Amino acid sequence: MLDTMKTPGDTSWFVKDRFGLFIHWGLYSMPARHEWVRNNERITNEVYDEKYFKRFEPDLYDPDAWAEAAANAGMKYFVITTKHHEGFCLWDSKLTDYKAPNTPAKRDLLRPMIEAFRKRGIKVGLYHSIIDWHHPQYVIDNKNGPYRESPDREKMNVGRDQMKYADYLHGQVKELLSEFGKVDILWFDFSFPDKNAPDDFSKGKGHKAWRSEELMSIIRKLQPHVILDDRLDLPDGWDVKTPEQFQPRAWVTVNGQPVVWEACQTLSGSWGYHRDESSFRSTENLIQTLIDCVSKGGNLLLNVGPTARGEIDDRALERLRGIGDWMRRHSRSIYGCTQAPAEFKVPEGCRLTYNPEKKRLYIHCYVWPYKFLHCEGFAGKVKYAQLLNDASEVNINSVPEWQQHHMDIPAGTLTLVLPQVKPNVTVPVIELYLE
Ligand code: GLC
Repeated sequence: MLDTMKTPGDTSWFVKDRFGLFIHWGLYSMPARHEWVRNNERITNEVYDEKYFKRFEPDLYDPDAWAEAAANAGMKYFVITTKHHEGFCLWDSKLTDYKAPNTPAKRDLLRPMIEAFRKRGIKVGLYHSIIDWHHPQYVIDNKNGPYRESPDREKMNVGRDQMKYADYLHGQVKELLSEFGKVDILWFDFSFPDKNAPDDFSKGKGHKAWRSEELMSIIRKLQPHVILDDRLDLPDGWDVKTPEQFQPRAWVTVNGQPVVWEACQTLSGSWGYHRDESSFRSTENLIQTLIDCVSKGGNLLLNVGPTARGEIDDRALERLRGIGDWMRRHSRSIYGCTQAPAEFKVPEGCRLTYNPEKKRLYIHCYVWPYKFLHCEGFAGKVKYAQLLNDASEVNINSVPEWQQHHMDIPAGTLTLVLPQVKPNVTVPVIELYLE
């Protein structure tokens, strides 16, 4: 287990729990063609609000069903978009009218969600967009948002004061951290500083646009333990690195030092509900992605985008169920696990995870080998081996003499003798009890 950079928040539970649910839910679930739809199609405030804000009515919303789906998938924490770039707030913020209680939903949608997840012992994470395409004080820049290329951009910026927006941002964060009990994760999104741009925030936004240091100290005062992500454009003070839509090739480092990290991934491509997207990843691929994260000392935050009626759609539910099916028998190779010590060479077509407390090593077979699995660096270190799905013994070191001859096995190799038929599970796992 690598020693990670010390940070202020409490990541002790996080690096054990490993698997969380990301939820992107907002007005963009109505156009149902990406949460960046306002940006992509340059939809004005007036049109967006007229069409969607006035009609948002998630009548089938059942946060208990969401929490149940997450729990059954083996997820231990969740992160919900309290506000995305569109500016719309799910909770009853005192600082804006642009919120769920003022839509036909007529209520705070965040609070019951937090309660439902908490009731199942799932830890609470709040995503909050620091970008805001709707707030009247937010300086319109030329990088993102519906007005980024508008000829009226400069005119629209007259009278806007980014520092007033920062006050609003700070005020909302205070609400989120003082009105909903213990918050385990705070997930800001995102900074896009332009080093050569003037300081008027019209070409990019970094820590000055949010007054990030001040915001950070407010956060640490209110909930010192909270896990903070890395998107406030500050060199330190954060707790977790957040690679997005790619898998790191190794344990994530900052200035050469390993850090706590969490990959966030979509099922298909869009974070918000996307009706017509049909490129959903297979359950197998998603399970492998989770394993891959843990094998490199990281977490996976897997996203769903519920519909505007308030349901997680079938394509997502089917995958959550498939993952849960696998997790029911295999979560032992995920929870409490991390990257294996370097002395164990990763066998061909496999991923390793390791539980340092129990001293058990887990071999995940992405491809089922022909009888023998050669594990270099394992010889003399394994007491017992079994398949994890059914706890059936796996023979160690019983390769017949005449075959050993032909196999050219390097010294220090332990050869496992596997059953001919791949166990009927999505990704088979071999559990090794170490000396
Ligand atoms: C990006 C996108 C956003 C999404 C986020 C999740 O930064 O702006 O839509 O919420 O990634 O990591």
